[in-house]
Amino acid sequence: MDIRLLHPSDIPHVQTTNITNLPENYFCKYYMYHQLSWPQLSYVAVDVSRPKKTPYDAPKIVGYVLAKMEEDPQDGIPHGHITSLSVMRTHRRLGLAEKLMRQSQKAMYETYGGKYVSLHVRESNVAALRLYKNTLGFKVIGTEAKYYADGEDAYSMRMDLDYLKDEADMSDDEETVGKDEGDAVGSAGKEGDGEKLRKVKVGRQLGVGELVEKNESSAA
Ligand SMILES: CC(C)(COP(=O)(O)OP(=O)(O)OC[C@H]1O[C@@H](n2cnc3c(N)ncnc32)[C@H](O)[C@@H]1OP(=O)(O)O)[C@@H](O)C(=O)NCCC(=O)NCCS
Repeated sequence: MDIRLLHPSDIPHVQTTNITNLPENYFCKYYMYHQLSWPQLSYVAVDVSRPKKTPYDAPKIVGYVLAKMEEDPQDGIPHGHITSLSVMRTHRRLGLAEKLMRQSQKAMYETYGGKYVSLHVRESNVAALRLYKNTLGFKVIGTEAKYYADGEDAYSMRMDLDYLKDEADMSDDEETVGKDEGDAVGSAGKEGDGEKLRKVKVGRQLGVGELVEKNESSAA
């Protein structure tokens, strides 16, 4: 499984995934608008287990996050917004939605200085609510009555992106420690008998490279 940025050529496949999974659907130009305006924020999950046979084979897109920056924030604070997120039924509970969301949030923070990320979710959407609240740490900040076309209310949710500053600080610390690892040589090697520094991993490693399929049998 691969998570990468959304390319314009992915859009028809993302649209298919969206139509399969959600009743909120969009014109092709709306996806294009996201991709062209904020090319760093939208990602796709691609099943690469079956290699392409010809260069014309379409990528097997099994999930996506479509995201943007709020263009005219009412509160004057730069922040991102999740327009749409879904993962194909066949590929759920593998951590894909979590990874897609985290990648997008990171880009909102790093590229656009986003302070928080917002979204709407149906009150009845237990899976998404659990993902947002329990896994990612979003908070409900209000309810929007009859937000959806069928009359269902939406929770308005928000998550601060400050944690990314902490993560960046932690990785800076790691690099500093890394510089001192190993045996000192030359004149430095002769100096004192101070304690040798050891490189340790801190924080949760959330890089795309570590995307592994979870053992579904252990899922609740
Ligand atoms: C909601 C959705 C995007 C989750 O995608 P996913 O890739 O399966 O989610 P993840 O594997 O990253 O799940 C992360 C966590 O979310 C929660 N979660 C996900 N699916 C869940 C479910 N069906 N029931 C309860 N909790 C669920 C769990 O806490 C899960 O962690 P765990 O697997 O360690 O228990 C997916 O179910 C989906 O596409 N649904 C239809 C479209 C939709 O509702 N989109 C959101 C619109 S706001």
